[in-house]
Amino acid sequence: MNIVLGISGGIAAYKTPELVRRLRERGADVQIVMTDSAREFVTETALQAVSGRPIRSNLWDKEAEASMSHIELARWADVVLIAPATAELLSRLAGGSAPDLLTTLCLATEAPIAVAPAMNRVMWSNPAVQANRDTIVDRGMTIIGPEAGSQACGETGAGRMTEPDAIAAIVCDPRFTGEAAAGRLAGKTVLITAGPTREPIDPVRYITNRSSGKMGYAMARAARAAGARVVLVSGPVSLAAPRGVEMHSVETAREMYEATHEHVADADIFIAAAAVADYRPAQFADHKIKKSSADSVSMALVKTDDILASVAALESGPFCVGFAAETQNVRDNALKKLEGKRLDMIIANRVGASEGFDLDENTVCVYWPGEHRSFPTAAKTDLARDLVGIIADRYAVTQRDEAGGVSGSVVSLRGNNGS
Ligand SMILES: Cc1cc2nc3c(=O)[nH]c(=O)nc-3n(C[C@H](O)[C@H](O)[C@H](O)COP(=O)(O)O)c2cc1C
Repeated sequence: MNIVLGISGGIAAYKTPELVRRLRERGADVQIVMTDSAREFVTETALQAVSGRPIRSNLWDKEAEASMSHIELARWADVVLIAPATAELLSRLAGGSAPDLLTTLCLATEAPIAVAPAMNRVMWSNPAVQANRDTIVDRGMTIIGPEAGSQACGETGAGRMTEPDAIAAIVCDPRFTGEAAAGRLAGKTVLITAGPTREPIDPVRYITNRSSGKMGYAMARAARAAGARVVLVSGPVSLAAPRGVEMHSVETAREMYEATHEHVADADIFIAAAAVADYRPAQFADHKIKKSSADSVSMALVKTDDILASVAALESGPFCVGFAAETQNVRDNALKKLEGKRLDMIIANRVGASEGFDLDENTVCVYWPGEHRSFPTAAKTDLARDLVGIIADRYAVTQRDEAGGVSGSVVSLRGNNGS
């Protein structure tokens, strides 16, 4: 687990070398990011020695930015832990301000953020501090502590930072990151294609489509959260790589075909969410094609390889799930694809100017031999969780059938089957 440990300028910062040791004992890689005030309480030398990594503190450190930018650091983190968190830092988090490296990466990360406040008891009970605490809890951050007891200032009350070992136990628990190590797909490899492909015409032009990759990336995240090893073969998209997923970036349908077949032997489940070009220009012009006096031009296109059909045709290939993006006759076209390509399952959705592509929501219907299930419009992230659940259900049934020699049995799944 990669942990960014943010240290702010409270007296409890003297406990952070101990905290780093407790995190590392639990197998975490720890990258420390200090605020300027924190440097008054604990030395970089001590922290570097226990973490084994150079300390980051300055947003404007050109050398450090060049080796791992603050955005890369935000992506690298599986968890961001801030301990101790000062009253001032809580205020910056609540206000969404980002004047320093630590708060900037808190805004830029998709990782869960845990915050362990530590301050004088009167400061902690101050309504402004409590309001900031409530705001950051509402925004999904986890507050650890503080505990009641004797304080460095000589007073007694609530405000002590939770002990390092207890903090480490909370953030290193797989349930904290939502990565269920013993999830339903633990031990399985899920290969996913996502995004569009680009088929070059000449050095400056290409044929592509409106796929954003959002659905495929959401499927990758959901499969990872269900415990699978996930290999994601992605066409050109402007999305961040999902955490914990093995990424392979490609551009053309041919490259996607090759990357898929390179990894398919390991895959238990294949999910083809990419919008792969069906045709590509027959010829690639080495130089930019110039405008001519002709009013119209035509271009010969040739068929690309059908990645999904080629995987579905493999002997002892993976459980195959296709996506059907259709503008009309969604059901008929989806069933034709399910049967024609001999898939295990197909997820059909209508696409158009205001449906499907490049949106955060989707409405789908899932078909498998003899049954179907429709899903109401939902956020792609929520939908992906349900779809991965239904894929895991069906995959488990086919595995049981293969083991028991039964084929084509009809299963009843949770939810609104056959609606
Ligand atoms: C000796 C000393 C101890 C401090 N201890 C704390 C503390 O435990 N908690 C806290 O919230 N602020 C404490 N402060 C105040 C913070 O250091 C101050 O608000 C600072 O601006 C925090 O900056 P940062 O959040 O960027 O680290 C202390 C200040 C001094 C001088």
